[in-house]
Amino acid sequence: MLKRILSLLLLVGLSAPFTAKADEGMWLPMLIKRLNHADMQKKGLQLTAEEIYSVNNSSLKDAIVQFGGFCTGEFISKNGLLLTNHHCGYGQIQSHSTPENDYLTNGFWAKNYSEELPNEGLFVDILVRMDDVTGKVLEGIDNNTPEAERAQKVGQRMQALAKEASNNGEYVTYVRDFFNGNEFYLFVYNRYTDVRLVGTPPSSIGKYGGDTDNWMWPRHTGDFSIFRVYAGKDGKPAKYSKDNVPYNPKHHLPINIGDREPGDFSMVFGFPGRTKRFMTSQGLQLEVDQLNKTRIKLREKKLGIWKEDMDKSDATRIKYASKYASTSNYYKYSIGQNEGIKRMKTIEGKVADEAKYQAWANDPQRKALYGNVLSDIDASYKEIAKYNLGSIYLNEAILGTESLLMAYRLMPLYTTLKSNDAAATKKAVEDLMPRVDAFFKDYNMPTDKKVFAAMLKYYSEDIAKDQQPEAFKNLVAKYKGDFNKLADHVYSNSFVVSEQKLKDFLKNPTAKKLENDPAFAIVQPILENFQTNIAPKVGAANAKLATANRLYVAGLREMNPDFVYYPDANSTIRLSYGAIKDYSPQDGVMFNYYTTMEGLMAKEDPTNEEFEVPAKLKQLYQAKDYGRYANDKGELVVNFITDNDITGGNSGSPVINGKGELIGLAFDGNWEAMTGDLVYDADYKRCINVDARYLLFIIDKYAGANNLISEMTVVTTDSPGAGDAAKAEATTPQAELLNATMTEAQEKLRAGKTEFKIEKKKGDAKVKLQVKD
Ligand code: ARG
Repeated sequence: MLKRILSLLLLVGLSAPFTAKADEGMWLPMLIKRLNHADMQKKGLQLTAEEIYSVNNSSLKDAIVQFGGFCTGEFISKNGLLLTNHHCGYGQIQSHSTPENDYLTNGFWAKNYSEELPNEGLFVDILVRMDDVTGKVLEGIDNNTPEAERAQKVGQRMQALAKEASNNGEYVTYVRDFFNGNEFYLFVYNRYTDVRLVGTPPSSIGKYGGDTDNWMWPRHTGDFSIFRVYAGKDGKPAKYSKDNVPYNPKHHLPINIGDREPGDFSMVFGFPGRTKRFMTSQGLQLEVDQLNKTRIKLREKKLGIWKEDMDKSDATRIKYASKYASTSNYYKYSIGQNEGIKRMKTIEGKVADEAKYQAWANDPQRKALYGNVLSDIDASYKEIAKYNLGSIYLNEAILGTESLLMAYRLMPLYTTLKSNDAAATKKAVEDLMPRVDAFFKDYNMPTDKKVFAAMLKYYSEDIAKDQQPEAFKNLVAKYKGDFNKLADHVYSNSFVVSEQKLKDFLKNPTAKKLENDPAFAIVQPILENFQTNIAPKVGAANAKLATANRLYVAGLREMNPDFVYYPDANSTIRLSYGAIKDYSPQDGVMFNYYTTMEGLMAKEDPTNEEFEVPAKLKQLYQAKDYGRYANDKGELVVNFITDNDITGGNSGSPVINGKGELIGLAFDGNWEAMTGDLVYDADYKRCINVDARYLLFIIDKYAGANNLISEMTVVTTDSPGAGDAAKAEATTPQAELLNATMTEAQEKLRAGKTEFKIEKKKGDAKVKLQVKD
């Protein structure tokens, strides 16, 4: 009996810290000290707020970069060695690959600086500082300011502040709005453009499990690649040059290969792209019915066409590898999200929240400002819904067809040609040249032709006829709805589908030639129609929506003054903190918090390219040659999960323990939480990470790249863990009551009592225990 009660108490006691407050939130680093630091310490953080974010002294933030504008990376050596995901470096790895030198298939490891591969167009942004500029942006503006005037002033001030902070172009700067236009922050970055590829495992490690495992746990993927940032001799950003030197970051992350356990503190520092946590139910309905549904339908078709041709030729496989991966990534995301929204009753949850808001807003004191917010949102979405498909199809079908995208890129040139501006025309051609080269490097005309026929057919069938331009409808009529015939015509006569013909045209471009090009003649009217007939209506509805959304969020924050809100992700630097944690995906099923080499091998399937295991990795497995990277049970941990709040853009973010050491590399989210960008659900939301030990094992034992290991700072002591956090938790009222209850129950049992009740209360905390024999 005593044991039963003790285990009961233990259960209640242990679960208390996790239910007390979910590890939700993508926090702004400069506000950590004020908003989160105490809570983080309670959960196991041992660093000061200044060690995380400081403008004057080196801090964790100096090790974190935005990679290529779409991912995160972090410094892991004083020589600018940069870690990110394999799927973040995928485009670069692909661009260096050929059928003869196939780094996608075989991996690549530079043995010294001179073998590292430069990447045109790639850059990393390192945060210098951020400032709250809300006061400056909103000066003299209040709820009585007319919306148009407000929008204009806000826009101008955002630009002016960014320009002023750029110090004549020395820094990359921007002001972003937060909480739907209620707050504004300025960001100042150093942009380094000489970023070279240092190492990558083969796809059979870096993308193990492929699209089948993507967005899923359990997982066994070594999703990492390594770059190096170079600077001028003065350490400042410099264009690529042989004379550049490895960048010396103000801080780099030590890598921890000690043991860890569930409950251990974890934080993720990075650049989450976009969340829509304040989106209302009507908005979600549109995401389900229009955005996701369209993406699923159109991408499924396109991926099928690409795959067929990729399987037939190595050259095509390499050309389309990166496009395929990114298209399929959000294809599957949309499927998962639509399923999740249904299963988790996400829309119903939002409707309930909105009812509460409306009740609050109906108070006579608030009605004038907030009473109509939800009905305004509703009305805006109704208007947007009428035209929304037009913009989705423009992106997914029209500009999602390569030839039409290339034709679209000629629009600025068309403008300069029509205005007879020779200098501007020359400049437009110069700007186009590198894009033309990049386009044809990864282009296979016969594949694109099939996509063209399929996408235009969908556009013609699915978009309201009165929203299609006459020129397009006439063309479809002329070819009697036969899109293959239309494709024959366009692909035999357009110059945008041939590198030679396009370059010939660019030598002596005229507006007439462009107008006569059949691909351009499709894109141009569709765009013009969109801009003149659709965009103004959508724009007006969006403006109304933006105003209502701003007030909605302001109202929410007023309604719950004690709740600390965090802003939606918007590609700015954020920190999320939580713990290593398992989860139950469904009733009766429990997922462990880590996977191992054993599980990786169990998935092996030599007949399926997604599950091939490279021979060398198999040998290491068979010999159990894990060296210092095995855990205390002798297992090689491959991936693990935490409950950190992340989203796309966090890819490549470091998972950092309570001492500021890297224990993992975030690379994905899990299937049960595909609604995570809309709501954070503590029971399901998990962040999937490559374990630092697997990472170093691959670099060291698999690739033999000791040159890289010796640059890093490797730490072997265990991570500070649940114990430390639990100790801190024991000081909460709930835990105090539990302790007191446990002591009293023990006394009663020892005194021979078998039936009793204990009730304790302190502030909001309450504990009840009833024992019957
Ligand atoms: N789902 C991952 C993310 O968005 C990307 C994974 C890429 N891998 C793939 N098999 N497509 O962060």
